[in-house]
Amino acid sequence: MKIKYSIICFVILLFTYTTTAEERKAGRLFPPEKIHILEEHREWQDTEEIMARLKINIGDVVADIGAGSGYFTIPLARRVGTEGLVYAEDIQKGMVDFISKKVEKLEMKNIRTVLGIIEDPTLPDNSLNIAFVANTYHELERPLLLLENIKNDLRLNGKLVIIDWDPAKKSPFGPPKEVRVPEDIVIKEVQEIGLYLLEKHNFMPYHYFLIFKKK
Ligand SMILES: C[S@@+](CC[C@H](N)C(=O)[O-])C[C@H]1O[C@@H](n2cnc3c(N)ncnc32)[C@H](O)[C@@H]1O
Repeated sequence: MKIKYSIICFVILLFTYTTTAEERKAGRLFPPEKIHILEEHREWQDTEEIMARLKINIGDVVADIGAGSGYFTIPLARRVGTEGLVYAEDIQKGMVDFISKKVEKLEMKNIRTVLGIIEDPTLPDNSLNIAFVANTYHELERPLLLLENIKNDLRLNGKLVIIDWDPAKKSPFGPPKEVRVPEDIVIKEVQEIGLYLLEKHNFMPYHYFLIFKKK
């Protein structure tokens, strides 16, 4: 009886251990030396369609979290206009330096590059209208801690946007299936930190696109 009880406890513990967000095996960080891949045009991820669905206003403050090469930073900055601001944040210096050079070349004054840390984008509290996290969620090592900090950075009614590789959709490239995070898990994790699901957009062949709101 005792042995049976111990086995049950062990199985429960093991199940809990393997299913917590913080213990999930994160995908490897996209290597800065392959940054040119992030700069290639993506037919499968229509930037203009994404921008339109974000309903960005002139003057908004947006954070591109896990900005990589800044593929989305520039179109986001065009949408917020000169009165707005885009933070291009990443935890890899190679990525941040690349964006800084690009921004300097384009002479865009409404973009600030930020070198964040794994669990915190290190942005001002209550400052963001939109936190935009594209193709990055599956790389997060401490998703819940990062989400908590993003929540603090959002203004009331601010939106968190998550676009990521859907393990339920077959794709000829992208991160391995084992590291992709299913849409329902992302929704559960974001709801755990107290944001609610506002919209789901299903127009991309390989990705889900979720918009959450801070109450
Ligand atoms: C695959 S790239 C995507 C870049 C960009 N969002 C895009 O769609 O082109 C993922 C980026 O997320 C960054 N990243 C991973 N974990 C992060 C974290 N906890 N906070 C901020 N950035 C992170 C990586 O350094 C990498 O540059």
